[in-house]
Amino acid sequence: MARQTVFYGAVISPETLSEYQAYPHSLLCVNTSGNINWIVEDVVDSAVQDLLSQYGALEADFIELKHGEFIMPGFVDTHTHAPQVPNIGSGQQHELLDWLAQYTFPMEARFSDVGFARRAYESVVRRIIDCGTTTCCYYGTLHLESTKVLADIVHAYGQRAFVGKCNMDRHAPDNYVEPSADASLAATHALIAHIRALPSPLVQPVITPRFAISCTPPLLGALGALARADQSLLIQTHLSENASEVTFTRSLFSECTSYTDVYDHYGLLGPRTVLAHAVYLDDAEVALIKARDAGVSHCPTSNFNLSSGICKVGAMLDKGIKVGLGTDVSGGFSTSILTAIQHASIASKALAFHSPAPAEATFAGRQLPLSALLHLATLGGAQVCGLQDRVGSLAPGKAFDALLVSVRADAGNPGLWGADLDRELCTGDGARGGLDAMLERFFFTGDDRNVRRVYVQGRWIGGAEERR
Ligand code: GUN
Ligand code: FE
Repeated sequence: MARQTVFYGAVISPETLSEYQAYPHSLLCVNTSGNINWIVEDVVDSAVQDLLSQYGALEADFIELKHGEFIMPGFVDTHTHAPQVPNIGSGQQHELLDWLAQYTFPMEARFSDVGFARRAYESVVRRIIDCGTTTCCYYGTLHLESTKVLADIVHAYGQRAFVGKCNMDRHAPDNYVEPSADASLAATHALIAHIRALPSPLVQPVITPRFAISCTPPLLGALGALARADQSLLIQTHLSENASEVTFTRSLFSECTSYTDVYDHYGLLGPRTVLAHAVYLDDAEVALIKARDAGVSHCPTSNFNLSSGICKVGAMLDKGIKVGLGTDVSGGFSTSILTAIQHASIASKALAFHSPAPAEATFAGRQLPLSALLHLATLGGAQVCGLQDRVGSLAPGKAFDALLVSVRADAGNPGLWGADLDRELCTGDGARGGLDAMLERFFFTGDDRNVRRVYVQGRWIGGAEERR
């Protein structure tokens, strides 16, 4: 942000899985570095000028929110595949392994063409930003040059992200497989160097062994050694998504005690590992994930869409495992974390039909409350990728990675009752001023039209509102 900016209006921010802040009249100041400088909650109009003066912010840009608008942290998408966006909505009759072979690998193979990759990624990244995703964990393809282009575009557009090229040296088609573990490792090093040479640190590299099936033991071992040697690197992979995948993995790694143990065995399971899906885990695997402080990316849209199963998120949350949300395009058919929020809610309700809550459970066997959905979509995701001190909630010292959301009828929100009734229905009694209802309605009926502005590190980088 070139200038200090003060927002005046409603602010929503997660605190824990069970509680979030919702203040209808806050002042929030962003400094010229794009960090949150100060926040004053529960301000009355007559006090605004005095407060601005007190904080030396009389010269700041002043943005007053309207009724039905609020500021909240940007979404963190902890798992998605940029090169699969062109495949959204195709091949969804298949389960994972057939879907990979028949739809996904053929599309990803096309990204050997760097020109094709550039055209695709420019629209993909724009679309993901405009959905309100301020931090994104991206899988590219196995191609080094195209994945560099992905990182360059993310960097140019100003999104915060982790970008990885897939490591995959077996069990893939001849035209879409790396020739050796050494070649895969060399390309990984080259991508890391390329990303670290970018002018801004918002984009970071991530080690991306696609999944155990697609990596030979020497490749997994080399990537584990890389992770050990450079503890700042994030690791992302798929874990236990589909029953046939689990069976095949177990047959490939008979020396390991479980699918989760494969990653642990090769040094790939630690506090900076992002495990997507985690549907079919036994108690020992859940305990191992907790012991290693690894994080889980819950991808419910994909898990339903590819008939994979349902991740037992509530039980993981009860154990204190870090969990965020992932769109997992194109296993998932939406680039928006809003869709993942909706399906995370439905998944928790579906689980509760069949296995009601144990007496001691807070989240297991119950529907996820709004507070938990907000947490998963923001701060939980930040925890999963080690960014909880920078983003995921709105607090002084953190980066202003935030959304300006509108649920006003004039934002084109579908399914509203017209501006007058809307105002009535959104005006709740009490200190929270209807914000709980607005947030719930945004989560369950909203879309990218309601995401008016997207800010990363204080910079307005996207959203439905035309930038001036
Ligand atoms: N497992 C390995 N690769 C993939 C992928 O591209 N998508 C999903 N959903 N699972 C995978
Ligand atoms: Fe995936």
